[in-house]
Amino acid sequence: MADFHEFYPLRTHNTFGFDVRARLAVHIRSESDLVSALADPRVGELPIVILGGGSNVVLTGDLDACVLLMEIPGYSVTQDDANWLVTAGAGENWHGLVGRTIDDGMPGLENLALIPGTAGAAPIQNIGAYGVELRERFARLRAYDRQTGDFISLDLDACAFGYRDSLFKREGRDRYIITAVTLRLPKAWQPVLNYGELARELEGETAPDAKRIRDAVVAIRSRKLPDPAKIGNAGSFFKNPVIGATQRDALLANHPALVSYPQPDGSYKLAAGWLIDQCGFKGLDDGPVGVYGKQALVLVHHGGGTGTALLALANRIADTVQARFGVRIEPEPVIL
Ligand code: EPU
Repeated sequence: MADFHEFYPLRTHNTFGFDVRARLAVHIRSESDLVSALADPRVGELPIVILGGGSNVVLTGDLDACVLLMEIPGYSVTQDDANWLVTAGAGENWHGLVGRTIDDGMPGLENLALIPGTAGAAPIQNIGAYGVELRERFARLRAYDRQTGDFISLDLDACAFGYRDSLFKREGRDRYIITAVTLRLPKAWQPVLNYGELARELEGETAPDAKRIRDAVVAIRSRKLPDPAKIGNAGSFFKNPVIGATQRDALLANHPALVSYPQPDGSYKLAAGWLIDQCGFKGLDDGPVGVYGKQALVLVHHGGGTGTALLALANRIADTVQARFGVRIEPEPVIL
């Protein structure tokens, strides 16, 4: 029997720390909890909102919804000839999972260390950092299909991963509820050290192992990203915009210091943090919300503010960047 809470405070369930309430909330600790919660008459016609670690959402007000707090545990390992296949319950802490796989002799997730949130949320935005994206380590996931009422398996292609994007941010948004994720970690491990900042951190070290790479990633992230336990934030607030080569060349002519990365298809990804930084927003304090002083891509909440105020600041930043560079930067987190 699912235990429902009315007018449930969500402040500790979103890493921005916005103080809003849910009309109903329920802890989901198993797939049967999920099925019984969805069928419960108390939910009625209320919209369903899924929360994992709440590290990629902006809550703009009280939710007249039933919030499912996804806490399904689980960790199991199988293998084929070439890979370890690690299945984690949707509620497992992502960083904990990274550490456990490495400790168990299955490297591969080290570049994705210290990303806040849960295993079940990782596929939604196809988390990525320091040269690795989740899709490169992904086998399949298990999800409840609200349209058919069945549990199904979705493979790599079905999830339609893109840069900070997937099926679950698009057509699948209100359809699937992820309950477990299976990662594919090749037994023939290859370190990924092509990201400039990570390479510099490990300079002079011959053959760093996965633990060492994880520690280097943790060190870099701790230096430039605020710890959500101390300062409310959701990591990068904007996606790095992707533009065509012609537009990039024109921008570069006017802004020789422009930071851009060529993409396999000939387009360029721009560092949104650089664009925002150039507009003078880095370290800005706008009352309870602001821009982090060490990374302009991160918006912060110091307490006592609202998601609406944060979005107003985000719009001001995006408008200023657009006026100056002619490029629109888009928010990355899910806005509720
Ligand atoms: N930069 C500035 N000023 C700033 C921030 C950045 O000039 O205030 C410039 C610097 O030149 C820097 C470049 O932008 O070299 C890139 O910055 P950084 O290495 O910090 O990476 P990012 O593009 O800002 C992305 C991801 C991060 C991920 C890092 C490392 C997105 C939206 N963000 O940030 O992901 O950790 O790369 O791979 O793609 C997240 O999604 O929440 C996140 C933190």
